[in-house]
Amino acid sequence: MSTKIGFIVGSLRQDSNNLKTAQTFEKLLPEDVEANFIEISDLPFYNEDLEVAGKAPESWLRFRKEIAEMDGIFFFTPEYNRSMPAALKNALDVGSRPYGESKWDGKPAAVISVAPRGIAGFGANHALRQSLVFLNMPVMQQPEAYIGNFDSLLNEDGTFVEDTKNFFQVIIDKYFDFFNKLTK
Ligand code: FNR
Repeated sequence: MSTKIGFIVGSLRQDSNNLKTAQTFEKLLPEDVEANFIEISDLPFYNEDLEVAGKAPESWLRFRKEIAEMDGIFFFTPEYNRSMPAALKNALDVGSRPYGESKWDGKPAAVISVAPRGIAGFGANHALRQSLVFLNMPVMQQPEAYIGNFDSLLNEDGTFVEDTKNFFQVIIDKYFDFFNKLTK
């Protein structure tokens, strides 16, 4: 049976650099691992008033089911005002409820931040990690995945330069070392 990794991209933008990065990660995964891109753009803002048994928004139920089916999660996040985007925080909140039924619990995670400048989404990366502590998700600590100065990492045809692709491969290989220690 293949290992299922949920890919959650914190940017909703069509031409997102985070999405491009995630799509490249997908190609570098081991053969027995499947990437599942999980949509967050259709999740209404979390509101406890909508959490009525059997009547919660359809997209919340779909999202929770998809997360529950995953063995691990890769988060790809831009930085918005030195934190994670609201859409990504909302997705964490939706997946964490109803109280006591969080779908995130115990799932090994990797956090990859992608940004146009040198700070490389550090603020978003660590804001996200802060929530993952509370959600009880073990997060790979090393290597840290700060992907900065985005345009300088691309060839003219829009693919990633070899050094960057090699770094992505290291992140993936180390993640599965970490994942296997926790799950096997
Ligand atoms: C940004 N951007 C940004 N960049 C950054 O490095 N640090 C920051 O704090 C912010 N803040 C911020 C706030 C808001 C509201 C927007 C819309 C943008 C720029 C951001 O890094 C850039 O738009 C990226 O390209 C977004 O990632 P995607 O969409 O390419 O994946």
